[in-house]
Amino acid sequence: MTTDLNTEKLSAFGKKIGSILNGAAAALMISVGHKVRLFDVMSDIGACSSVKLADSAELDERYVREWLGAMTTAGIVSYDALRDLYSLPKEHAAMLTRSAGPRNQSLYMQYIPLLAQVEDQIVEHFKSGGGVPYSEYTTFHAVMAEASAARFDNLLIQTVLPLVPDIGKHLESGINVADVGCGSGHAVNVMAQNFPNSTFTGIDFSSEAIGVARNEAEQLGLGNVEFLEQDAADLQLKEAFDFITTFDAVHDQAQPRQMVAGIFASLKPGGYWLCADLCASSHLGENLDHPIGTFGYTVSCMHCMSVSLAYDGEGLGAMWGAQKAREIFTDAGFSLEEVARVDGDAGNNYYLCRRPL
Ligand SMILES: C[S@@+](CC[C@H](N)C(=O)[O-])C[C@H]1O[C@@H](n2cnc3c(N)ncnc32)[C@H](O)[C@@H]1O
Repeated sequence: MTTDLNTEKLSAFGKKIGSILNGAAAALMISVGHKVRLFDVMSDIGACSSVKLADSAELDERYVREWLGAMTTAGIVSYDALRDLYSLPKEHAAMLTRSAGPRNQSLYMQYIPLLAQVEDQIVEHFKSGGGVPYSEYTTFHAVMAEASAARFDNLLIQTVLPLVPDIGKHLESGINVADVGCGSGHAVNVMAQNFPNSTFTGIDFSSEAIGVARNEAEQLGLGNVEFLEQDAADLQLKEAFDFITTFDAVHDQAQPRQMVAGIFASLKPGGYWLCADLCASSHLGENLDHPIGTFGYTVSCMHCMSVSLAYDGEGLGAMWGAQKAREIFTDAGFSLEEVARVDGDAGNNYYLCRRPL
């Protein structure tokens, strides 16, 4: 070890490393707290002892007390040491409970344990190249579906669709719509419920996700949806759709350019493709202040890039960025009319692409 170290810098970095370790641990505990509904219960019952919280949440008190220790030292839960009472400030509840909808950040903490599941495999791929296929991420579709449902339920109809000129009018009168890489299909089902005169097709290559999508459509009694289990790199649906959507479904494709070409060919001339994908620059130097940059590159390395490489793909990665997106979309023939942001969805750009007439 060198002896000419700047002690001030050393001490500052030591604090930073400590806070990274604490932050990572807190993320895991927030994920657990979300899964066992501790934030929701704390928000409902107000200041409480660990016994009351455990009783109310129907959980084991010893585990709840240790969790409270982690959450208190992380500054998430407030602790009155004199009365031995814990409380969740309402501003924290507004970002951690199910009723927070798309603001609920605990949904995203679940990605940390999800990624950790494949850590050993990722380590091997650092040496050998290639990637980890979707099938190895056993909780991916459930976690993704829960996080995106919070956005779709609150923002899709009211805020996202109106980004597309006149789309409400067309959906009311009846058009054909596809959602490519639809995952568990909630966006498709929400749109189909709201616009009964239009028909909706969800496309995904995951049989697990398509099964969930079909079940939900059946439970909702929807007659205007179908779900196709199909590779998006091989869309053979010539000019079948008036409008196409993709939600976080381009960057992890093995063959994103083939997928975008297929979307172009499947749209009627003049039709719009609304593509939501992670908001970032394609240049690392422009992402230094990205509010969730480390998270974005980590999810990318341990999932989005890796699943693409697993199928001999391009490995764009989650942080592919707006410049690369523009290049791929315009190369396919689209005109990129707008890159919009949506209040309540800080993570995504909404690319409004049009197939020229
Ligand atoms: C990040 S998830 C997004 C899912 C959904 N749109 C949402 O927002 O919840 C990406 C989806 O793309 C699907 N996918 C990836 N590669 C695909 C391919 N080649 N063909 C069809 N679907 C694919 C995955 O199965 C996954 O459901």
